[in-house]
Amino acid sequence: MHKVIFDTDPGVDDAMALLFLHHHKDIDLIGVTTVFGNARIEVTTRNALFLKREWKIDAPVVQGAGETFIPHRVTHEPPKHIHGADGLGNIGVPETVDIEPDPRPAAQFIIDMVRKYPGEVTLVAVGRMTNLANALKQDPEIVSLVRQVVIMGGAFEVPGNVTPAAEANIHGDPEAADIVATATWPVVWIGLDVTMQTVMTRTQLKEIADAAGRRGKLLFDLSQFYIDFYEGLVDDGMVVHDSCACAYVVAPELFATRSGTVRVVCGGLADGKTIQKPDGRGFGPSDWDNLPSQKIAVGINDKAVLKLIHDTI
Ligand code: BDR
Ligand code: CA
Repeated sequence: MHKVIFDTDPGVDDAMALLFLHHHKDIDLIGVTTVFGNARIEVTTRNALFLKREWKIDAPVVQGAGETFIPHRVTHEPPKHIHGADGLGNIGVPETVDIEPDPRPAAQFIIDMVRKYPGEVTLVAVGRMTNLANALKQDPEIVSLVRQVVIMGGAFEVPGNVTPAAEANIHGDPEAADIVATATWPVVWIGLDVTMQTVMTRTQLKEIADAAGRRGKLLFDLSQFYIDFYEGLVDDGMVVHDSCACAYVVAPELFATRSGTVRVVCGGLADGKTIQKPDGRGFGPSDWDNLPSQKIAVGINDKAVLKLIHDTI
């Protein structure tokens, strides 16, 4: 069983990933921490509460960071053209939801859970890395208590999606991502290298929607705006970025990985670019030395991942 904290910025593909975690038999979802990104923090938290209510998810929703690790750091605006002005495909989410978030800040909640279940908690981070960096700053000892960190983020050998260099979750807070990348906890990066090819067709989504009843109808409805955005960029359908990271937790055998030290470019033309120095490659002394080796995904059995999502939801 995997105890999972889902750190998320819902977000259309985040919503699908949440439903996956909620339903997978090997996952014990112990918390949903929110971060700004696909929308402002008040909106991503409201969306998480809305999904919790609609999908009857027991795990608490905990509000996290509303700005970058370094205050007032310049980054991109919420991508309304991808996730809608309400972050959930403009389906008309109510302004407020009649349930409260956990009163703690997300970073504190992460620390509390990791200390409560030493060696058991997997952090699945599919938004900006700000909450994780804040937790590390507050309590650096958690690195040895976390089971693993699985990140949806980065673009290693492929172009980014915010700039030619950088993927959104990392471009949105590069300093936080570099802190998370270089900490001595086990990290697996599921980046655009593998997520861009993992596209659920409209037909597959409709099948899920029909089989999953009311839950499925909401997922189907909120996904339409996002699918329209991706039309022409990928084969017709929905790029399931965040669900790929969740799939890795329960089925790592569906991914090929490469080990090495990961750093994030902070500033300049390639702001937010993720780079891995593969283990065993010799270079002169550099900023990659004496740092932990982490895994990045370099291949995916996309058909099997899509089937896993389908069967789980
Ligand atoms: C990532 O950015 C967000 O827009 C998505 O939810 C996903 O986590 C893809 O680059
Ligand atoms: Ca996301």
